[in-house]
Amino acid sequence: MPAKLAAGNWKMNGTGAALTEIEALQSSHPAPGCDVLICPPATLIARMADMTSGSAIAVGGQDCHAAAGGAHTGDIAATMLTDAGASHVILGHSERRADHGESSADVLAKAVAATEAGLVAIICIGETLEEREAGRTLEVVLGQLEASTPDASSAETVVIAYEPVWAIGTGKVATLEQIAEVHAAIRDALAGRFGDGGDFSILYGGSVKPSNAAEIFGVANVDGALVGGASLKAADFSGIITALEASGG
Ligand code: PGA
Repeated sequence: MPAKLAAGNWKMNGTGAALTEIEALQSSHPAPGCDVLICPPATLIARMADMTSGSAIAVGGQDCHAAAGGAHTGDIAATMLTDAGASHVILGHSERRADHGESSADVLAKAVAATEAGLVAIICIGETLEEREAGRTLEVVLGQLEASTPDASSAETVVIAYEPVWAIGTGKVATLEQIAEVHAAIRDALAGRFGDGGDFSILYGGSVKPSNAAEIFGVANVDGALVGGASLKAADFSGIITALEASGG
């Protein structure tokens, strides 16, 4: 069975003051019935990891460099994330692909570095509105999946996040039918390539909120969510965790 994961992506939001949200989350969910992960800005990883050490909340990065170290101003190596206390890293988020020109080949190299460093790589894939309207959704999503995912991937080292680009931060959520179609195709592709595709966690992302989480988690092959805006406030993220705990799988 895939692990259920509620993952928060704080993006470029939060200074030390935001750590009170983690205290609130620990109070509301001291023993969550699913995996819980927060990926804060890099500046908060070590402090958040100290706070959550020994608790059920895991901490992750939002990106890493493919190289182990060297002359890469502003970048972070995978081993630096583990050293700071991270257990996961988001890779290939559409904002990185768009803002930083990251290709699937770049994401693959980062994913290899991350998994070799012992991080779980959350590999993001998703189509733009133009690609969906052109009927190319599955071609694009499965192409990104194939090209971004290391050959040595397993359910223990890689999580897939399907995030339609047009649904991120827009308040527009894919329909349950759209989510079901893409998640089933991802599951099949993982099974075809890795054999144990049934065990990979496949997250949905894009305007997930407490009010829509339960119905999304009811869709086949949805094993959790990658949450942006609604992960910033403990009260909202708690509602999403509660919905995932209650979901059948
Ligand atoms: P959103 O972001 O929940 O704010 O739409 C999701 C994401 O980018 O991971």
